[in-house]
Amino acid sequence: MSRITFLGHAALHIEAEGLNALVDPFLTGNDQAPQGPEAFSDLNYIFVSHGHGDHLGDAVELAKRNKATVVTNVEICQYLGGKGVEMHPMQVGGRFAFPFGRVKMTPAIHGSGIQAAEGPAICGGDPAGFVFELEGKKLYYAGDTGLSMEMQLIGEEGIDLAFLPIGGNFTMDIEDAVRAVKLIRPKRVVPMHYNTFPVIKADPQDFARQVAGMTEAVVLQPGQSVEM
Ligand code: NI
Ligand code: MN
Repeated sequence: MSRITFLGHAALHIEAEGLNALVDPFLTGNDQAPQGPEAFSDLNYIFVSHGHGDHLGDAVELAKRNKATVVTNVEICQYLGGKGVEMHPMQVGGRFAFPFGRVKMTPAIHGSGIQAAEGPAICGGDPAGFVFELEGKKLYYAGDTGLSMEMQLIGEEGIDLAFLPIGGNFTMDIEDAVRAVKLIRPKRVVPMHYNTFPVIKADPQDFARQVAGMTEAVVLQPGQSVEM
């Protein structure tokens, strides 16, 4: 059994056979995060969906201290090169069999620019999500994305648990996330990427009501977990 803990915004802690990972570890500066980066030790992987600060977050510091491997796109790996971080580059559509299970990098409709100290953003490649195969179950982490027909293809893989953004403005809102559920048909769904900033205000219970009958919605408070 794997355990997935919601760390607020779009950050997850995944504990499974052979895997102790954070996904999009935006902890420092995230008012929703129940813990800071110092709370995590013995991480072996860190997954980063795209280059925006609310996803790249504390990835570099955590990867160095834990000697964890950062799994992200080729361009973000190039940006991380020279920072003393172990990396595993992937690209959208690619799948790889890690020792703990297979991971596929899925398409997302979004941006991925990395905020530079000054000047224009640094190229962060294509934004993505991930499908994790953990102990025979499939977890789809959508990342930041708009609604897309690609989700129908992801759904064909048989998704046990999906984390979908619902906050609107930068990603799908509730209306489109409900349509995403129709395409993905996950057994269970957890809403994310809402209420962190004023422009992504959304009521997760409204989302839960609208998907009732299609899937089981699980609304997690930061720090709460779901088992898969
Ligand atoms: Ni983003
Ligand atoms: Mn974001």
